[in-house]
Amino acid sequence: MAMKPSRGAGVWAVLCHSLLAAALVCSKNHGNPANDLVDMINKNRTALKLPVLNDSPGIGCMALQYIELCKGNCTNNIPHCKVPEDDFTEIFAPNCGVELPTFGTLTGQIVGCHSKYLEPSLAFSQVLVKDKTSLSLLRNKSHTEVGVGLVGAHKGPFFWCVLFSSDRANSTFVLEDQGVGIKQKKGCFSGSSNPCSGGLKRTAMLKNTLMTTLYCLCILLLHL
Ligand SMILES: *[C@@H]1O[C@H](CO)[C@@H](O)[C@H](O)[C@H]1NC(C)=O
Ligand SMILES: *[C@@H]1O[C@H](CO)[C@@H](O)[C@H](O)[C@H]1NC(C)=O
Ligand SMILES: *[C@@H]1O[C@H](CO)[C@@H](O)[C@H](O)[C@H]1NC(C)=O
Ligand SMILES: *[C@@H]1O[C@H](CO)[C@@H](O)[C@H](O)[C@H]1NC(C)=O
Repeated sequence: MAMKPSRGAGVWAVLCHSLLAAALVCSKNHGNPANDLVDMINKNRTALKLPVLNDSPGIGCMALQYIELCKGNCTNNIPHCKVPEDDFTEIFAPNCGVELPTFGTLTGQIVGCHSKYLEPSLAFSQVLVKDKTSLSLLRNKSHTEVGVGLVGAHKGPFFWCVLFSSDRANSTFVLEDQGVGIKQKKGCFSGSSNPCSGGLKRTAMLKNTLMTTLYCLCILLLHL
């Protein structure tokens, strides 16, 4: 069956272009949406000439641990939970492999949740940074480091956590074993070269495979 060269080709070209862009974004961060969120936070800051925040895997992992404990109750995009402050040093840091003597000060926190998984850009604008309080936290001049964690069930709800620190970057929240830390069983955290684990891994991987397949299909059709 021969394909008619038609207006359709233009539509395909546009579609392929966006798919290529999406595939590139995906492959850059190995499909880790926590890293995408850190990029978005930093882009939002640098647009105002604020310094880039160091992407700390130690902080990211603790953000994941925190929100993992918090998941379950999501009302109006706000997770409702009470986590004792001591849990950071007594539970989250050891669980992540953060060297305790390097435990610094966390100076800001943004949490959010949604009934289902949202792309990083939507999670940013619709869940995490949708009011003045969170925006001013994100743009605080004294912050130096950031970490993002997210976790959720396959069918939702999903939970996100951003933690900031104002310590001297790179000398606090250091991970054991030259930064390897301890692999997490669920969710994603930023600053890590590890892909997401658990349900999210499947979601992210499925999306990457789908993108690649669609992209190849596009190229094929364009060359017919
Ligand atoms: C969820 O959080 C709200 C607000 O704190 C609380 O009123 C409600 O009882 C919680 N529900 C569950 C199932 O824990
Ligand atoms: C920025 O964060 C610091 C703590 O790190 C806090 O003392 C200060 O009030 C914040 N500044 C603004 C403008 O919110
Ligand atoms: C930064 O984030 C805020 C809140 O989502 C948004 O309104 C603003 O347009 C963003 N700025 C840039 C430069 O992306
Ligand atoms: C921290 O380490 C990262 C990666 O090694 C580097 O890009 C960044 O410049 C460092 N930041 C500071 C403040 O030393």
